[in-house]
Amino acid sequence: MHDIDATLRALKAQFAGLADKRDILKAPEFKKMYAGIKDVPAADKPAYGQAVNAVREELQAMIDGFEAAQAAAAIKPLDPTAPFDINSSRPSLLGPENGSKHPLSAERQVVADIFNRMGFECIDSRQLDDDYHMFQALNFPEGHPARDDYDTFTTREGLIAPAHTSTMQNRVLKAGEPPIRTVIIGRVFRNEDLDAKHEHTLNQIEGVYVDKNINVGHLLATLQAFLEAYYQTNLKFRIQPSYFPFVEPGFEFAISCPFCHEAGCVTCKYEGWIELLGCGMIHPNVLREGGIDPTQYTGFAWGIGLDRLVMMKYGIEDIRNFQAGKLQFLRQFK
Ligand code: DAH
Repeated sequence: MHDIDATLRALKAQFAGLADKRDILKAPEFKKMYAGIKDVPAADKPAYGQAVNAVREELQAMIDGFEAAQAAAAIKPLDPTAPFDINSSRPSLLGPENGSKHPLSAERQVVADIFNRMGFECIDSRQLDDDYHMFQALNFPEGHPARDDYDTFTTREGLIAPAHTSTMQNRVLKAGEPPIRTVIIGRVFRNEDLDAKHEHTLNQIEGVYVDKNINVGHLLATLQAFLEAYYQTNLKFRIQPSYFPFVEPGFEFAISCPFCHEAGCVTCKYEGWIELLGCGMIHPNVLREGGIDPTQYTGFAWGIGLDRLVMMKYGIEDIRNFQAGKLQFLRQFK
């Protein structure tokens, strides 16, 4: 006859080593114990049956206990301060000692500090805007062909994910009397084919300066002063005419390479110069739309890509690194 006690001992031993305790009921010993019933003499059958059922119940109670413990462990809240364990199968969060600012957040602060010292106030841009601020207030009337250069994303309600921080110019102009000295920093969105140099989401630094007798010389000196402070080196600049509907005249502003000083290097692609930003004298229509009399006041504006400035500063080759969430990349900026 089947030795029930020996089977129970064997099963308990197996039970201890099993990863998933539910498998115990599939154990061959257990099945054999049931199959043994037919070989038991009729008189002993009731006792044997009871003993087998008792074993089953004991095992079932152990399995229930195991399942309850598993369920309790599953709902245990994650401890965000638990040390990072790369071998752990459960998700772990970085402890505060491992965290650091994202490079773009850190550099945004560096940029804002420089402009604050130069007398500008710094504000955030909006991440959802309307046609008026994106186009009309910037002298792109309905149907203007230059609207195509700023193809971006719109919501079903007709709101726009702004393609540049210039959307804030009208608000800045309306907010106060000249002198106006404001820098707007924020996230913008583009319908782009993505590659190492192009992202759908990036950050811009917009500047607006309005006062009496402001001219191109003020614009150029302001940009040079900022860029020299940011790259901590003397720079030369050069400009060439460019078209943006919201400025007249408009320029592309290039600097001598801050790393090789025109000798040629990887950063400037051996050209010695780097085209960095768009800028110009604010168009009279834009001033007027902002409630400022263009016969009394003049002003300048510019827009620089923050991501691009930071990529150059640190020799980052792929703009997509900023948003890839790769810890290997981010940890280098601790
Ligand atoms: N908004 C332009 C862009 O993203 C950049 C720009 C050019 C901004 C000239 C300005 C400006 O304020 O005056 O392409």
